[in-house]
Order: sequence, then C-alpha cells, then structure tokens
Amino acid sequence: MKAPFIIAVDGPAASGKGTIASRLAAAYDVPMLDSGLLYRAVGVLLGRHGGDFDDVAAATQVARDLTPEMLTDPAFRTREAGEAASRVAVHSPVRLALRDMQQAFAQRPEGAVIDGRDIGTVIAPAAPAKLYVTATPEVRAERRWKQLQAQGESVSYDDILDDIRKRDARDGGRADSPMRPADDAVLLDTTEMTIDQATDAARRIVEAARARWELS
Ligand code: C5P
Repeated sequence: MKAPFIIAVDGPAASGKGTIASRLAAAYDVPMLDSGLLYRAVGVLLGRHGGDFDDVAAATQVARDLTPEMLTDPAFRTREAGEAASRVAVHSPVRLALRDMQQAFAQRPEGAVIDGRDIGTVIAPAAPAKLYVTATPEVRAERRWKQLQAQGESVSYDDILDDIRKRDARDGGRADSPMRPADDAVLLDTTEMTIDQATDAARRIVEAARARWELS
C-alpha cells in the first residue's frame, strides 16, 4: 500500500514554518502536528514540578507521560516555554520518548503536516514532501518579537535576537543535532518574503512533490 502523503516542514525558530505548515494543512485538508509544542510542554511541565532542565531522568518521565490532550495550555506558547523546550530537547532520551507520538501521527492514512526540526531526518524520513524553511536571525527575531508583542509579552527586540542566536546554537550546535535539512529537503529562504509569498512558494514545492508521489 502507498505510504501516506506526509509533509515535513522543518527549520529554525521563527522561520515561518509554523504558519506555512498550518496553511498547508488547511489547503490539503489534513491534520497538523506542531512538534515544538511537545518539547515546550515537557519543558514547562518539568519546570512547574520544580524540575531541573538538566535532570534527564525527570525530563524523560514528563515526556513519557505526555498525552495529546495536555497540549492546549497557552503557557506553552510563551518565550519562556521556547527556552525551556530547547533545554530539554538536547536530551536524547527525551527525544526518544516523544518519537512514538510523532510517528503515530505521521502514519495517519489521510496524510499529515508536521512541523519541527527533525521531521524530515528522524521522525518521517520517508515523507514524500520535505521543506526546510530558513531566514536570517535578524528577520526571525523581528517576526518573533512582533508575535510575542501581539500575545501581550513585553520584551525587547535585542533580547529576542539574543534568544534566537542562543537557540540556534543549542539546537544546531552538536554533531547529533536534530536541526539540519534532510538530504532531499527543499530549502525555502523566507528572509525577503512576506508570509503569503512564502506560503505560495511552499505550495509549489509541495505540489511538485505530490505529483511525484501520485506517480509512485
Ligand atoms: O518550534 P518551536 O520554537 O516551538 O520549538 C521549541 C524548541 O523545541 C526548539 O528550539 C527545539 O529546541 C525544540 N524542538 C526540537 N525538535 C522538534 C521541535 C522542537 O528539538 N521537532
């Protein structure tokens, strides 16, 4: 039987991948999983229980106990949650504990869009459509700053740029780092694009992948 049509949308923080992924999911009428939310939930819940981000066993237990129903808390969308997420995401046992939930999602027969860092490389390496969305740190910081302001968080642009740079180093700084494009991913640099232009470009990439998948 033909593998489901999975669209993997990877890339660094605030590259536009979340918006692109949700628009693709709407366009193709398939469910979407924001995998960053899983790591955010683990970081925030661990912190709430007084846990230490470097305590691998405690973080792994929180990851194992996580269920999809627990993912709706708006606290997972804050700047602090993003920071906590990247602290727990460096632990391989945490990544492993979250893998099953993501892979179950990637096996839905109707297909799915999953956004993250390692979807094309680890979670769904056979995904027929893989995008790797990037933009310069400055442009990503500006987008994240506007988004946080709209959420009512008051924070300076410089602090956000600093966050983004640290996050890039943490997410991509090790030999086994999850944040890298799959060999067959199509790179989409959104630095000079509006979100509508980026979505149109993503649609064209996915359409080409879908045409190949239909013939396969
Ligand atoms: O994409 P988002 O900003 O929500 O991700 C928060 C953090 O979670 C990332 O900086 C990264 O450390 C981690 N993450 C990950 N693998 C994923 C998704 C997110 O390591 N698939």
